[in-house]
Amino acid sequence: MDGRTGGRRPDAAVFGERERLLTISAIRGFKDILPRDVPLWTRIEEEARKVAALYGFGELRTPVMERTSLFARGIGEATDIVEKEMYSFEDRGGESVSLRPEATAGVARAVLEHNLLRENRSKFFALGPMFRRERPQKGRLRQFHQLDVEAFGDPGPQIDAEVMDFLLTFLRGLGLSDPILSLNSLGCPECRPAFRKELAEYLLSREASLCPDCRRRLALNPLRVLDCKNPGCREVAAGAPKIVDRLCPACVLHFRGVMDSLAVLGRDFSLDPFLVRGLDYYSRTAFEVAHPGLGSQNAVAGGGRYDGLVAALGGPDTPAVGFAVGLERLALLLSEKAEKDPLPETPGPRFFLAVLCPEAVETALRLLGTLRKKNFSCECDWRPGSLRSRLKRADKLKAEKAIMLGERELALRLATVRDLSDGSQREVPLDAPAEDFL
Ligand code: HAM
Repeated sequence: MDGRTGGRRPDAAVFGERERLLTISAIRGFKDILPRDVPLWTRIEEEARKVAALYGFGELRTPVMERTSLFARGIGEATDIVEKEMYSFEDRGGESVSLRPEATAGVARAVLEHNLLRENRSKFFALGPMFRRERPQKGRLRQFHQLDVEAFGDPGPQIDAEVMDFLLTFLRGLGLSDPILSLNSLGCPECRPAFRKELAEYLLSREASLCPDCRRRLALNPLRVLDCKNPGCREVAAGAPKIVDRLCPACVLHFRGVMDSLAVLGRDFSLDPFLVRGLDYYSRTAFEVAHPGLGSQNAVAGGGRYDGLVAALGGPDTPAVGFAVGLERLALLLSEKAEKDPLPETPGPRFFLAVLCPEAVETALRLLGTLRKKNFSCECDWRPGSLRSRLKRADKLKAEKAIMLGERELALRLATVRDLSDGSQREVPLDAPAEDFL
């Protein structure tokens, strides 16, 4: 099978250039969302907007392309995302630009650039596509979509709990029954450097047991070794010092505050000392929601506090916390659930117009206009065809009624309206009000 051409191997000797071009398929890891899947996506987006309004978050739409320097500075040069997963290229004028691999850095830039915090707005959400050049597999794409939620300006632990509560309300609202919230604290610039050093020394003493990736990570970001899936690395990580045991008093206080607030909100969570995130901007709270239904790519959402990001982008010291949900992973879970418990079917059009002779075309156009002006959904097939084939098509579209326009109808200035649920028929004058066709 040829991945580039959707399975068919075009033979230049048999097919002409035009046919060869027609067989171009989508890029690996970039997926179409087909009409049959769109109702689920619409449902997810509607729920996101509903819950955002409930929690006081306003929608923000940022560009899909930004200066590469934004992500390098924001996410961190040494992260996998910036180091090897971004789609970057040189724009005219020589500047490096990149398709956004995530939304947080762009949202922080927009908040700063437009002084949004001075406008008394500090909580934002965004929906849209992100791009990472990862190896595609189930639940891992190169273009994927996120619901991104960010709250700026509040250093206290209650807002951390509130955004996690937002996330769980959103997932539950969509009917996801058993999301598991894992929580950790990654410390702050006060306590993390000493922990990092201690961890690096511990890992260095066991370097031989680590995978090549982790051996490389050791110098750049030893914390990443903690969430490596390799069995050897896991064993080493199990005996490693834990950041939660090395937090400074202010971080301990904050972490306790987060846990207490979650308890008051009635949210279950489990502490995971190995939870580190793949982006460098986090401090203190880090969390993920996993779902057993997803297999190895089981994180449906992740987030945390990033108190240093806005300042790193040249802004004032601004604490912040947020998360992003992977919408393809969510859609995967929901469609597995929908197999047992299907979504209501999308209704078909109110009317299907069957144009049975060329002379009826003008009358049909006029009637479509009249019906649609009254907001009655209509479809029409303009291609020549028999009554039988037209009725078959109307049935397939799940239309409520077929309006038949042939020579006899034109001569009598009326339309034959057929109720497709019981096959009954009646005649309606062509100049009757739209409601008479119902
Ligand atoms: P992240 O953990 O990199 O965090 O991504 C969040 C979610 O996006 C993941 O849990 C996953 O569901 C989904 N995701 C990530 N990569 C892929 C992929 N290649 N294919 C499909 N889904 C994927 C962030 O992006 C942070 N910006 C979250 C955040 C917001 N932190 C604070 N505010």
